[in-house]
Amino acid sequence: MQVSQCKVGTILAEDVKTYHRITLVVKDSVLNQYILDRLVDYGLTHVWVYTSDALVPKEETNREKELIQTSYAEAAQVLKQVLRELSLGKKLNYTQITQLSKLVLGNITNRVNVIKYLNNIKDKDEYTYTHCVNVAFYAMLIAKWLNLSNGEIEEVIQVGLLHDIGKVFVPDEILNKQGKLSEEEFDVMKNHVLLGYYSIKELMDISPLIKEGVLSHHERSDGSGYPYGLRENEIHLFAKIIAIADVYDAMTQDRVYKKGVNPFEAFEMFQTLGMGIFDIEVLTVFLKNLAMNLTGLNVILENGERAEIVYVPPYEITKPVLRTGTTFIDMTQSKTKILSIF
Ligand SMILES: [Fe+2]
Repeated sequence: MQVSQCKVGTILAEDVKTYHRITLVVKDSVLNQYILDRLVDYGLTHVWVYTSDALVPKEETNREKELIQTSYAEAAQVLKQVLRELSLGKKLNYTQITQLSKLVLGNITNRVNVIKYLNNIKDKDEYTYTHCVNVAFYAMLIAKWLNLSNGEIEEVIQVGLLHDIGKVFVPDEILNKQGKLSEEEFDVMKNHVLLGYYSIKELMDISPLIKEGVLSHHERSDGSGYPYGLRENEIHLFAKIIAIADVYDAMTQDRVYKKGVNPFEAFEMFQTLGMGIFDIEVLTVFLKNLAMNLTGLNVILENGERAEIVYVPPYEITKPVLRTGTTFIDMTQSKTKILSIF
């Protein structure tokens, strides 16, 4: 479609790249006036959109929001029940896990709302269940952005739901301890990986890749992870995806003893600490797509002012462009800080 014909609200069907092959806007972004003006600045004349009139109808957006809300709540509740039974010595109810993964997968086309919804979850008390559901949702997005097949995406979602099941065997005083764990306590905590793996190892219905994903989600590319200190290609892709989703959710969620950081602070932490630790390709895909899908969300600035995220440059994802009223704030040029996103 000709850029001059695009309306605000049109959805992109492909990434938009400059003539030097630099991504300007990712697929599935909803065009706003700021982005349209940038496309013109870059001399782009045509972009791929879903259909010429594929604006998101308001009713549809509301329906999608409800769908996430209900599937999220159901997933957290069922997972809580499944984990409780496991902690009482019963066998894991894998049929329910497969049903839950389908429920999560049902939100796959609804990325912007999924990201917004996850960003606004603040449930400190039910942390373990909500964390596993969040990781399952983020893992779905990453798998989708990596162009995995639907079957693989469903498996990755299941790894997300199951990755921390071993924590039901870790005492609460260690799980919820405020402050640093002692060395012995950390060893007990680390054991959740093996305990989780052992509780699904004998279940023949579960694919070996899912079991491996659960076992390896704390392995790190530089060999610094556990339980085996595996490196780069020794770690399966599913575990690499879960590792990133897991750490991102842990960074951004509030806990009883700490406040979560906002997504842009999390991106910065990944960029400074994460590059040698996580799989570089998976991390790059995750950061770029997640960042660019924050367009349309609102922020609160240091001075209490509210603004809307109108664009996130893919080459500088920690510095979005914001709009307050008719004024634009380019965070690459501004000293103001983003406090929270909603
Ligand atoms: Fe874990």
